[in-house]
Amino acid sequence: MSRIELKHIDKFYGSNHVLRDINLTIEDGDFMTLLGPSGCGKTTTLRVVSGLEKPQNGIILMDGKEIVNAAEASFAPPSKRNLNLVFQSYALWPHMTVFDNVAFGLRIRKENSETIAKKVASALDRMQIGEFAKRYPTELSGGQQQRVAIARAVASSPKLLLLDEPLSNLDAKLRIDMRAELQRLHKDLGTTIIYVTHDQTEALTMSTKIALFKAGELNQVATPAELYNNPIDLEAADFIGNPRINLLDGKAEMVNGQLVVKSDLGGHTFPAEHLTDEEFPKSGEFDCVLAIRPEQIIISTEPVEGAIPVSIYANQPAGSETITTLKAGNDEFLAKEIGQVSYDLDRKVWAIIDQNKINIYNKETTRLIKRAV
Ligand SMILES: Nc1ncnc2c1ncn2[C@@H]1O[C@H](COP(=O)(O)OP(=O)(O)O)[C@@H](O)[C@H]1O
Ligand SMILES: [Mg+2]
Repeated sequence: MSRIELKHIDKFYGSNHVLRDINLTIEDGDFMTLLGPSGCGKTTTLRVVSGLEKPQNGIILMDGKEIVNAAEASFAPPSKRNLNLVFQSYALWPHMTVFDNVAFGLRIRKENSETIAKKVASALDRMQIGEFAKRYPTELSGGQQQRVAIARAVASSPKLLLLDEPLSNLDAKLRIDMRAELQRLHKDLGTTIIYVTHDQTEALTMSTKIALFKAGELNQVATPAELYNNPIDLEAADFIGNPRINLLDGKAEMVNGQLVVKSDLGGHTFPAEHLTDEEFPKSGEFDCVLAIRPEQIIISTEPVEGAIPVSIYANQPAGSETITTLKAGNDEFLAKEIGQVSYDLDRKVWAIIDQNKINIYNKETTRLIKRAV
């Protein structure tokens, strides 16, 4: 088993405070993805867990044992942490064949040659590079080398696998294949995985949990579904989802224990049980933001009771899906439909929105105050 706990981790590079009080528990068997824009501290977090960097503050526990205690200047060396690491810039040994690169760790552990051959073949097959076993790294493309690096890391069935943007050099098709393989690998080996990416699709598709960073801080730790359905603040809402979530300004007020919201979409009343614990004015009107995923908006060419009259601003059928820009008052928002659907521009249509699927944010604090259910 492998359970990792980070407690109050701070990391500075000079005066640059790149990790700020990070608290994160990765349960045994989790596929935990660290997600966020470039420069937010994801790689640094992996390096701190692996022992390549020492944090200035905080504690890290591995299966309950302290491997880092900054206050006591106690840091277990990387070799004592029972983990394997694959970096974005994978370093293969240039003088060794693919087979020997992948076999290297197994040979160090003195496994017999038959077992080694079997494990190497299985790891290479999984990464769809079995045919390259006898080649040298310089005879492979960047994407192929990257897959060798992953094969090398998984061949020894580590308890903890740290992967830093391992699919970044692959083309779109191969990336989908490799996402499937990593998901299978996680299931088959039961390995705990900490995976770094800035790609929300990778995070949403493979992870059991996602830790969303913003500028050195952890913003939200949740399952992919939670993160997608109930982002904790406007930044999280805007970061997740493709096409991006619709954000519309509105005014909100508590009336008889219910949240009443007005916007260009009209009026909505939300029951108390859908409100979160976040702060917002309990009397008087305040600014809010309505957040609605494009696929939650249904376009009707006929008037429907409760639907919002809108006009077609733009229409982009693209094979498997159609993105349509709708205009209501001064607000523009996107609707996403499956398949190819064509509308004449400026045509009048009706938008059907299930109000339960709307998230409401306090505009001032940017925090979620009413959750979609
Ligand atoms: N070795 C280093 N020396 C100085 N600053 C660094 C070093 N590594 C990373 N940083 C800085 O720390 C911040 C976080 O970097 P990093 O963890 O690599 O981000 P991410 O992986 O999320 O893109 C960035 O501002 C980066 O410039
Ligand atoms: Mg990085």
